[in-house]
Amino acid sequence: MKNLFIFMKPYKKQIILGPIFKLLEAIFELLIPTIMVLITDKGIKSGDTIYIFKVGGLMAFMAILGVSASFTCQYFASIAAQGFGTRLRNGLFEKIQSFSFYEIDEFGTASLINRITNDINQLQLALAMFIRLAIRVPFLCTGGVIMAMFLDLKLSSIMLLSLPLFLFALYLIMSKSTPLYGLVQKKLDKLALVLRENLTGIRVIRAFGMETYEKKRFDNSNEDLLNTAISVGKIVNVMNPVTNLIMNASLIAILWFGAIRVNNGALTQGKIIAYINYTTLVLSALIIVANLVIIFTKAGASLKRVNEVLMTESTMKDITNYKEVKSENAPIIEFDNVSFMYKGAGDYSLQDISFKIKKGQTIGIIGSTGAGKTSIINLIPRFYDAVKGKVIIKGLDVKKYKKEELRNMIGVVQQKPVLFTGTIKDNIRWGLENASEEQIEKAAKIAQAHKFIESMKEGYDTVIFHGGVNFSGGQKQRLTIARALVKNPEILILDDCSSALDFATDLELRKALKNNTKDMTVIMVTQRITTIKNADMIIVLNDGKIEGVGTNDELMESCVVYKEIYNSQLQKEDEDEKEDVI
Ligand code: UTP
Ligand code: MG
Repeated sequence: MKNLFIFMKPYKKQIILGPIFKLLEAIFELLIPTIMVLITDKGIKSGDTIYIFKVGGLMAFMAILGVSASFTCQYFASIAAQGFGTRLRNGLFEKIQSFSFYEIDEFGTASLINRITNDINQLQLALAMFIRLAIRVPFLCTGGVIMAMFLDLKLSSIMLLSLPLFLFALYLIMSKSTPLYGLVQKKLDKLALVLRENLTGIRVIRAFGMETYEKKRFDNSNEDLLNTAISVGKIVNVMNPVTNLIMNASLIAILWFGAIRVNNGALTQGKIIAYINYTTLVLSALIIVANLVIIFTKAGASLKRVNEVLMTESTMKDITNYKEVKSENAPIIEFDNVSFMYKGAGDYSLQDISFKIKKGQTIGIIGSTGAGKTSIINLIPRFYDAVKGKVIIKGLDVKKYKKEELRNMIGVVQQKPVLFTGTIKDNIRWGLENASEEQIEKAAKIAQAHKFIESMKEGYDTVIFHGGVNFSGGQKQRLTIARALVKNPEILILDDCSSALDFATDLELRKALKNNTKDMTVIMVTQRITTIKNADMIIVLNDGKIEGVGTNDELMESCVVYKEIYNSQLQKEDEDEKEDVI
């Protein structure tokens, strides 16, 4: 909760003044029935028209003041609630940005999206309602009861009796519905997840003809949400009929006993009208309380979810007492007995990995799918932290670097190319904010992207649509390579990023990389022997363990796994050649 106050702080004025204005309105509202007594008992009885107009005018004036106070409160409530929501969304977004992949994996993207949108909306609504009603309603209730007691103490016992009844009903309904609201939000997360998967994978779904299956999955998830929402609805919707029942039963009792007291002359006609007005005021305020309780219970569930994100500290905190002790002579990258496991995975994805890479070397990492290649390179820019052992860059543990400095040194081309909405130029500039046209073009040339970019009508200004859907797989890969190259990083990591390129383009790419990255340390992850055959060092991975480290020739002598991969691919190439001849 303390977390949330920080986001409310700039709206202190509105949050304090809003309820005060609403209180003013409530005071006028409370006074009006008593003034009515004056009109009925004094004005109407004695037929004093001037008196009626005078008091009536006063009532109208008070009503106008009441409405203006109410408007002012509404205005403050809107500013505070919208502002608070915006700030909280920003805060949450910033927090998520600080998360490592661990935390993001743990919450799940769909849930994070829901928390930042739906849950914050609930909190925003709760704050607005708080400003508008949280002070006014209790004031109206107690004020109404007191005013009614002044009018007729005996008759007030009916009203006082109905209050505990009402509170008991409220307690029952709340205790049953509160846990269900958390569940509804969870089901909403699930639905968002299914929807997200469906929309991002729509092409695959169509290709495999899985529309019916997907529709069923969505229907199930939707129905699940519906059922939970209905069970909450069933409980909560009892609230209004119950409060109405209590309210109207009290009114009947008051009219009944009131009429007897008027007949006895113990109560005037004007007073009974005012009395009924107060009872309605109190009981309708209680109905608002009931609705407020629903809003606050919902907000409570959302508050918990938003707080969970705010309270989660990234497992990868940036160091504060930063002292540079890196050494240019040490190996540029060193893995010292590194083991790694993904959160929730039962087994290690990497085990006892040790190797050293010298500055300027070209390194190949090869292994079958699931061998742990991507996992290894994810540890270098600290996307994840090693569970055991150390990853050392230039003699300094990656955990001792400032994240920004570490990542500035490294250019990563991820296995799955991700582009953002914007022009080609904008996307390449992600690598280097102020890159000149020449730098962009040079990077694109090395990445073998220049030709196809040039052939487009808009060239480098061609707009990339959401997710890069208007580019082919190979084109996307080359654009992401250019994006990493423009940064001119010390370490360039290419994760299987030529998998969608034909052999000729792949060859051109390797040649260009070789000629233009002399001082760069290049790590190429691949499944193709030809890509890394000439590398200075090749790391062979199998099932999360290193099978061999060395050059092509050395590995052909000593590493069975490497030899197997080599032979299988070479044989295939030979067969392909034969087929070509035929
Ligand atoms: P990798 O993703 O490191 O394998 O997963 P890889 O060598 O790069 O495979 P390809 O060539 O891209 O296909 C290594 C192991 O880690 C697990 C996977 O199940 C795999 O067995 N893993 C990967 C997780 O448990 N969680 C993840 O988020 C990613
Ligand atoms: Mg991979």
